[in-house]
Amino acid sequence: MEKVKCAVLGATGVVGQNFLKLLVDHPYFELTTVCASDARKGQKLGGAKEHVPGGIPAVFSELILEAMNVNVLVSRGVQIVFSALPASTAAGIERDAAKAGIKVFSNASAYRMHPQVPILIPEINYPHLDLVKNQQKETDGFIVTNANCTTTGLVLGLAPFLSLNIKKLVVASYQAVSGAGYPGLSIFDISNNVIPYIAGEEPKVLDECAKICGQVDGAEIVPVDWDIYAHCVRVQTIIGHLISVHIELDEKIDRNDVKNLVEQFSTPEILAGLPTAPDRPVIFTEAPDRPQPRYDIEAGTPERAKGMAAVIGRLEVRDNVIRFITLSNNLVRGAAGGSVLNAELAFRRNMI
Ligand SMILES: NC(=O)c1ccc[n+]([C@@H]2O[C@H](COP(=O)([O-])OP(=O)(O)OC[C@H]3O[C@@H](n4cnc5c(N)ncnc54)[C@H](OP(=O)(O)O)[C@@H]3O)[C@@H](O)[C@H]2O)c1
Repeated sequence: MEKVKCAVLGATGVVGQNFLKLLVDHPYFELTTVCASDARKGQKLGGAKEHVPGGIPAVFSELILEAMNVNVLVSRGVQIVFSALPASTAAGIERDAAKAGIKVFSNASAYRMHPQVPILIPEINYPHLDLVKNQQKETDGFIVTNANCTTTGLVLGLAPFLSLNIKKLVVASYQAVSGAGYPGLSIFDISNNVIPYIAGEEPKVLDECAKICGQVDGAEIVPVDWDIYAHCVRVQTIIGHLISVHIELDEKIDRNDVKNLVEQFSTPEILAGLPTAPDRPVIFTEAPDRPQPRYDIEAGTPERAKGMAAVIGRLEVRDNVIRFITLSNNLVRGAAGGSVLNAELAFRRNMI
């Protein structure tokens, strides 16, 4: 099988380097092109500062960083791009790439709330991928986004409960510093500290969660109408966003029924066997002190799906209220791994 030629935009960044790791020996995709800021044009990728354990994979270290230009992507025969760019930069190049017929899988927020662009977390909303057919009718475009890293962890934790009648959701996050990219926060600000505000994060959680959990209606998505409240807080961990979740239903529920829902939640058939799809996307623990970033950020099997599963613990159920703590890997599940899984699904559905 001939592999699909792909590029990583923002390959030197924190998310970009997680893409590199996931694309080593990928069965469907072949990384041929890497781009970063203009200042690095012509440099070897291997010279960039390491942001992942093990550094830039040796197999890609000789790749030369290209200018961020759609003509370069087209001339190199790139069929899909994985975007790990800041939103302001992503807006132009993602639009240009999509117009040129290149399929875009983006981590940036630039197009997430566009009515014809899915925010795809396929365990929850794989039918939303069909929205791109409407983009193609109007503009030839193909942009698929994944959510903000906090939203991804939240909705994955909610996935087992989406058949219930949810009225209200109250969440508080404990977010790792890697969520802010490199160099991120100054040690003066975050060391020995907790910062109860992350600019722009709370509205993203509210809007993206409602869209992801909504239903396709014709050409658009009708968001869920839950009452949602979020506090987003930065803590001193390096990787892994922990979220405290409080769900209110319209009727009482029993703890055993809730536990069964979590334990029985499985990957939809359409994702089964995809290289980066975790066998179990949500893992439940009764251990009183888990999940913890230190021990649980690599949850997920098989090997390629390490870091793709959310871990749920501290489950409490009282009357119509379900409470739990969920943890997910913001760089893998919440970023690069999420995009790669979305592209694998599009590949399986012959959309690439
Ligand atoms: N970190 C997370 O947990 C996370 C999770 C989900 C989504 N995201 C989103 O993913 C994107 C990347 O995040 P990150 O954390 O990887 O950021 P980052 O570490 O700051 O990396 C940004 C990348 O974009 C490149 N870049 C910056 N400005 C550019 C420009 N004007 N032209 C071309 N390239 C430019 C950088 O190249 P140089 O190295 O040459 O500067 C670098 O490769 C952001 O949109 C972010 O919101 C991040």
